[in-house]
Amino acid sequence: MEAELLEVRRQAIARIEGALTPDELELARSAYLGRSGALKALTGRLGALPPEERRAAGRLANEIKAAILEALAAREEALQRIRGQAARAAADITVPGERRPIGHEHPLRQAEAELREVFARLGFEAVEGPEVELAYYNFEALNIPAEHPSHDSFDTFYIGGDILLRSHTSPVQVRVMEQRKPPIRVVVPGRVFRPDTPDATHSPVFHQIEGLVVGEDVTFGDLKAVLTMAMRELFGPNTQTRFRPSFFPFTEPSAEVDVCCEIGGQQRWLELLGAGMVHPKVFQAVGYDPERYTGFAFGMGIDRVALLKFGIPDIRLLLENDLRFLEQF
Ligand code: DAH
Repeated sequence: MEAELLEVRRQAIARIEGALTPDELELARSAYLGRSGALKALTGRLGALPPEERRAAGRLANEIKAAILEALAAREEALQRIRGQAARAAADITVPGERRPIGHEHPLRQAEAELREVFARLGFEAVEGPEVELAYYNFEALNIPAEHPSHDSFDTFYIGGDILLRSHTSPVQVRVMEQRKPPIRVVVPGRVFRPDTPDATHSPVFHQIEGLVVGEDVTFGDLKAVLTMAMRELFGPNTQTRFRPSFFPFTEPSAEVDVCCEIGGQQRWLELLGAGMVHPKVFQAVGYDPERYTGFAFGMGIDRVALLKFGIPDIRLLLENDLRFLEQF
């Protein structure tokens, strides 16, 4: 009897687990648990057994019934799950897919990438420096005296003590020279900060690209040549440049460089960058011999370049992240 019961269980479970449809499952259920099912047929014979055996076989029959019920429930759930998946897989595959919008480079990043590329072709390596900077690098090492207005907290974001948000990318000149020996030819793109009230041409956060060349016999002629070539690469082969005398504490002599641009059909000179020959005091601050080495440096606003290249009228548009604006570039 026991062997027969176990055999019924084996067959029942195998058939339940092999059922592929709810109908097949129902057939299996009635074949084993139904009124004329296999289990009923066996339990109907229990009464004929001696009392000892009857009790043991009865208990086993109950256990087997419970096991079969459990298997039925599990298989029913599995079949439902499979049906759900099939229904989903059978969805209308001719419906067009949902296209995920793919972004593109911000116009500012496009301008930066182009600047990096132009200067890379002229042999400049791009390096970066910290946005949170020590006053020493932002001012002192660049020969900017303590009484200079840019030292003032109204002109600079101080974080506390002598730690500040750099107001230009020039401090990276000093960091690079401290770490390397000439010859040096680097550009430094990066974010800079000044507590300016935002308007069409001012933003408290903007971007600069610094340049530094140091070697033996580097001249102002090299400076003019490099910047003139760079401006032609950026704005077209007929671009004119103009070098006006100027003053920066970290260069001597210093120049303001203007570019002639056509704006609304009119030729206009636009001030684009500051430049000059590296001041001997800056070389002294990094332990270079100013009798042996000369160099030139320059710094320009990347935002400015982006506004010019794309004909954007207001610098604030670059930072507002309005998709209606950004999608145009
Ligand atoms: N650091 C200057 C500024 O933010 C720009 C500048 C001028 C950088 C002359 C230079 C330079 O490297 O030689 O206004």
